[in-house]
Amino acid sequence: MNKKITIVGAGNVGTTTAQLIAEKNLADVVLIDVLEGIPQGKALDIQQACPLWHSSARVTGTNNYADTANSDIVVITAGLARKPGMSRDDLLHANAKIIKHVAENIARTSPESIVIMVTNPMDAMTQLVQQTVNFPYGRVIGMGGILDSARMRTFIAMESGVSPDDVQAVVLGGHGDLMVPLPRLTTVKGKCITEILPESVIEKIIERTRHGGAEIVKLLKTGSAYYAPAASVVEMIEAISGLKNEPLSCSVYLNGEYGVKGVYSGVPVRLSSKGAEEIIELELTEDERQAFIKSAEAVRELVRKIGD
Ligand code: 2OP
Repeated sequence: MNKKITIVGAGNVGTTTAQLIAEKNLADVVLIDVLEGIPQGKALDIQQACPLWHSSARVTGTNNYADTANSDIVVITAGLARKPGMSRDDLLHANAKIIKHVAENIARTSPESIVIMVTNPMDAMTQLVQQTVNFPYGRVIGMGGILDSARMRTFIAMESGVSPDDVQAVVLGGHGDLMVPLPRLTTVKGKCITEILPESVIEKIIERTRHGGAEIVKLLKTGSAYYAPAASVVEMIEAISGLKNEPLSCSVYLNGEYGVKGVYSGVPVRLSSKGAEEIIELELTEDERQAFIKSAEAVRELVRKIGD
């Protein structure tokens, strides 16, 4: 039997994720949204592409959580996207209300699922979901670091004229303006970028990575990025499904790792069918460690503000 993946939110990130899952024949997909007709129409369109992709995935749309019951994985993309000039954190209160309602429904209908959180401000929303569904921490994971490191790899590849496949990048911390790109651990064909690119270029790449989402919001004017976010979610689904094994930077609950306790933040994690299986602790310099703690503490403050 195929895995069942529910995607909450039939906007651009949700539908692009559904498309990639169906195209890769990874699972059956249920697309759910409050808007009547939209998830049904989008799902039917994707379903009709499946013969062309040689995919046997079943793709359905619904407005009713009963149809999502017993999903193996639930991806939450519902909520508002940023408008130009907004930070991810500006969405806190509006999205917290939506996400709490979604989480209550997931807890009721798919109590054994692994939840992948996408909605911003992502790390705080991931923590809100975990507190609401009360699943083991490892079964509620946020998508951010994979996207941020994909952006950093893209900019490095553009600057150095290599394929992004030759670039490995590490970005830790929250998926916000205080994220922590780590040039010291970032390589092109195995060589550290600090040996290849001038410091001023690396600084520019770091800034562009930090504001990679906002750059796209500014260009689109309405809505935010979705191709790279959806591809990043699918990377997590493939790792959970045992198709990939390398550590991925995801937002997970830290219980003392990296000197941080009681808050979600982005660190390298090994994913499996159980969810976040193992947190990998990289050796950080004192400056890197301080930047990581600052980013994680900003998430803690956001989580605190949800109740205000
Ligand atoms: C981004 O960075 C939407 O947070 C997402 O583009």
